[in-house]
Amino acid sequence: MRIPIIAGNWKMNTTVAEAAKLVQEMLPGLQAVSKVERVVCPPFVSLTTVAPLLQGTEVKLGAQNLYWEAKGAFTGEVSPTMLQGLCQYVIIGHSERRQFFGETDETVNLKIKAALAHGLLPIVCVGENLAQNEAGETVSFIASQIKGGLAGLSAEQVRGLVIAYEPIWAIGTGKAATADGANSVIASAIRNTIAKLYNKTTAAAVRVQYGGSVKPDNIAEFMSQPEIDGALVGGASLKASDFVAIARLSAEAKGLS
Ligand code: 13P
Repeated sequence: MRIPIIAGNWKMNTTVAEAAKLVQEMLPGLQAVSKVERVVCPPFVSLTTVAPLLQGTEVKLGAQNLYWEAKGAFTGEVSPTMLQGLCQYVIIGHSERRQFFGETDETVNLKIKAALAHGLLPIVCVGENLAQNEAGETVSFIASQIKGGLAGLSAEQVRGLVIAYEPIWAIGTGKAATADGANSVIASAIRNTIAKLYNKTTAAAVRVQYGGSVKPDNIAEFMSQPEIDGALVGGASLKASDFVAIARLSAEAKGLS
């Protein structure tokens, strides 16, 4: 069985002091939801402050990005060796990175390989924009993102990935995808592509999250879908009570509370 995973992507929000306060606010509530995996992804500069606050809890820490080289003359970048031992997860290829910072399926692929080589678990983001969605290109576009992003990975490596399906038009807009719409994109574009590239067992083992305007009032519907194993939450992960509610309602929807 795939263990549900709820991750909060704080994006470029919170100072170090605010990050510490936010994580302390949500910790008691998050700890009470023990049957789903819970991850917080604060900005890089807060990781060393948040990590000790999570010690002794089951709440995991994630970074929002990484560079693929281990060290060297790459001013401003953060390497997998710096993150190793500090956090467990790393978000890779978020649509904002692709859109504003020129990331491609090729760089996503390099980052996934670097993360895995250093024991970091990637949360790999894919998703179509509005024009692609309206042109009926969703499935073919996401299939190509999966193919490019996962190139050269073994079935065993793929089984351990978390993939986040985040339609770009649903991010930060308040207009979430429909739950059954997201479920069918995940089935036809993500699991089906992985089944073709690898095999059905691998496709069935990968955990897939939905992301895009997830809130306490719509999470249960997403989590009731058979192909959806969790959520990558942006805005609502910045409010402790909302993020805790999302984790709790996810466990309930999967019959795990
Ligand atoms: P929102 O939940 O704010 O729509 O953001 C989703 C997202 O991009 C998470 O990575």
